[in-house]
Amino acid sequence: MTTRIIGTGSALPSRVVTNLELESFLDTSDTWIQERTGIQNRHVAVTETTTSLAIQACLKALEDAGKQPEDVDLILAATVSPDCTFPCLACEIQAAIGADQATAYDINAACAGFLFAFNSAAAYIACGMYRNALIVGAEVLSKLVDWTDRSSCILFGDGAGAAFIEEAEEGIVSMLQGANGKKGMALYRYEPPILHPFLKQTTASDDAGRSGYLEMNGQEVFRFAVSQVPDSIIHVLERANWEKSEVDHYILHQANARIIQSIAKRLGEPEEKFPMNLHAYGNMSSASIPVLLDEMNRAGRLKRGDKIVMSGFGAGLTYGATALIW
Ligand code: COA
Repeated sequence: MTTRIIGTGSALPSRVVTNLELESFLDTSDTWIQERTGIQNRHVAVTETTTSLAIQACLKALEDAGKQPEDVDLILAATVSPDCTFPCLACEIQAAIGADQATAYDINAACAGFLFAFNSAAAYIACGMYRNALIVGAEVLSKLVDWTDRSSCILFGDGAGAAFIEEAEEGIVSMLQGANGKKGMALYRYEPPILHPFLKQTTASDDAGRSGYLEMNGQEVFRFAVSQVPDSIIHVLERANWEKSEVDHYILHQANARIIQSIAKRLGEPEEKFPMNLHAYGNMSSASIPVLLDEMNRAGRLKRGDKIVMSGFGAGLTYGATALIW
């Protein structure tokens, strides 16, 4: 027995922010952003929240799968931008949709989060602990970035994507995931403490100068992605006993068009096999892969039997890949 995706869903905030709008308050340009990243627009949550986007995406995935909330055994939510530290996002989703039978908790593996949730749920299903799972990646990164830092805020967007998966004869063929905590400071966000009577700190940044904003060494992350992702893909293909040429779609984390093009080149695979939607959404962290999956599913671009490799990387640093038959 393995695990198959049988329904997908996604949700995006209604407010679209263009590169031109960013030009009005940042020393940047539409040309620079497009040339260096491929991004044209991103959606920014103004009225929506991480929870509301996640709930919408989950309900759509259940509807697509033809399932009811009470059918769900497990909810795994991947996020680095929950509305509450606790209760976790997955428990909030469980309550909102009425999936009263489901176990629910969150996973923080940043941009690799959806992939880690997917692999974790598949491992539970393989060992017989659960028969199905609702997995979701949901982020409102606009509340974590410094909107005066042109090197980072231009990259990110908000959104949520979900998938309903269940035990099946055919589906996931091989999985791989890993982490390199020693490189964690290449991309991090420090949680500033609330001020209290026993704390000397009086400002929102600490002695090490860490603010409460997302901080990134863009070039280090870029180098990590273009070497680690092809390696992960090659290993997961070896485990699946698949040739690269057999793969129909490489569904990668949507961080930067240049990263994806470089990965395609390193693998020696045509760029057409690497669908992209980052021009419209920017980097939505854990939501990137499931939103792309949902768009392809609803557009009829995925056919039963297609061979897919999903791969993600992100803060941690974390990375992973999964080979599956659609
Ligand atoms: N607009 C205009 N200029 C900008 C800019 C912006 N938004 N952001 C940075 N610059 C400037 C820099 O200040 C620098 O100027 P200088 O040469 O005068 O010092 C110049 O552009 C080049 O900066 P650099 O950082 O070398 O650019 P880059 O080609 O590495 O591109 C990133 C920057 C962030 C786009 C790129 O490193 C990247 O995509 N990294 C991966 C990040 C990522 O995906 N993170 C999430 C992982 S899940």
